Amino acid sequence: MPVTEEFHIAAIPGDGIGCEVVPAAIEVLQEIGKRLRVRFQFLTYDWGSDFYFKHGRMMPPDALDQLRVADAILLGAIGHPAIQDHITLNGLLLPIRRAFDQYVNVRPAILYPGVSSPLIGVSPGQLDFVVVRENTEGEYAQAGGFVHHGNPSEVAVQVSVFTRQGVERVIRYAFELAGRRNGKKRVTSITKSNAQGYGMVLWDRVFDEVKSDYPQVETESLLVDAATVHFVRRPQSFDVVVASNLFGDILSDLSAALTGSIGLAPSANLDPLRRFPSMFEPVHGSAPDIAGKGVANPLATFLSAAMMLDHLGLPEGSALLDSAIRDVLREGRVRTPDLGGHSTCREVTEEVMRAVRAGISAGNTLPN
Ligand code: NAD
Ligand code: IPM
Ligand code: MN
Repeated sequence: MPVTEEFHIAAIPGDGIGCEVVPAAIEVLQEIGKRLRVRFQFLTYDWGSDFYFKHGRMMPPDALDQLRVADAILLGAIGHPAIQDHITLNGLLLPIRRAFDQYVNVRPAILYPGVSSPLIGVSPGQLDFVVVRENTEGEYAQAGGFVHHGNPSEVAVQVSVFTRQGVERVIRYAFELAGRRNGKKRVTSITKSNAQGYGMVLWDRVFDEVKSDYPQVETESLLVDAATVHFVRRPQSFDVVVASNLFGDILSDLSAALTGSIGLAPSANLDPLRRFPSMFEPVHGSAPDIAGKGVANPLATFLSAAMMLDHLGLPEGSALLDSAIRDVLREGRVRTPDLGGHSTCREVTEEVMRAVRAGISAGNTLPN
């Protein structure tokens, strides 16, 4: 069958379990590519902590230029117990999000059939929302410094930066997404404006302004401390949740746990304007406690890959992968220990590949 289109994907496995789940995702994507009659050209970069041990930096000086030409970036995780996290993350992951103005971080939280939530009484179908996280500024602006460094009188200043443009564009994205999603058409904005009287107050004001442009969407504003309670008490009520960089980070680990495992939580770092490549990665980190044991759950990365396929304009491929993952979870025979099973990353990968092939032969949505 002739190949009709070619996509260039930059793969950065990174550290720890990133080096297990990204190669697995590449295999699955190659399988899907064959069926879609598209070719995925993967360029795999060995950047990360091992690169740092050899070269004193997490990626080469021209790394962003190398990535710029890719259609998308697939990333595993960054972080090594022997290097301080602010060095590894500010040396690789965060510069990519900033340089490519990936200002929206989309983190779906779905409780899949066959998976149990730690919340009693919440069943699949009831928990299906998306955390939309601001991804380039806020508490992650990396503005500040040390005064009297290393002295007893040392002072550290860490400044949050909230710009009207930065806040407005992510809030607008959340409303647009609520309109597109087959959900409750509800946007919940989360701040802490009772204590943070400037940046978060600007956020609240912009949210109130933007919401009047979307009268068909229901809205709610919560303080972040109360929001953690509501995530646990009434997760069914959420549809699209929009929050600052730090709050979105914390809330998306919480929502991941509510859906059964962080090993099932995907994410998309998007430049919605498509000026730069967007980056797809699991929500989880390098998990040094299980790295090298072959038991990492690869499904969060596969689900991120499905988001990538959608972004690349391949919705049939995305649907095929998504339904293969759902089949494997529903059947429940092959699952990694984080989901209560005994299977390996390899076994789950093979099972998903089998489900992809079965989905195709069952006449899934793909043309032949
Ligand atoms: P983590 O997400 O790596 O691990 C938290 C817990 O979840 C661990 O017990 C781990 O074993 C488990 N877990 C995570 N992913 C799993 C998977 N796919 N399958 C099964 N179990 C899984 O968080 P952490 O321990 O706080 O961070 C470890 C390192 O990763 C740190 O250096 C941190 O800075 C970094 N980190 C990187 C990213 C990223 O690159 N995007 C994200 C989060 C944390
Ligand atoms: C995530 C991670 C990163 C973040 C860290 C590793 C800098 O936790 O992607 O959720 O906070 O954005
Ligand atoms: Mn996080």
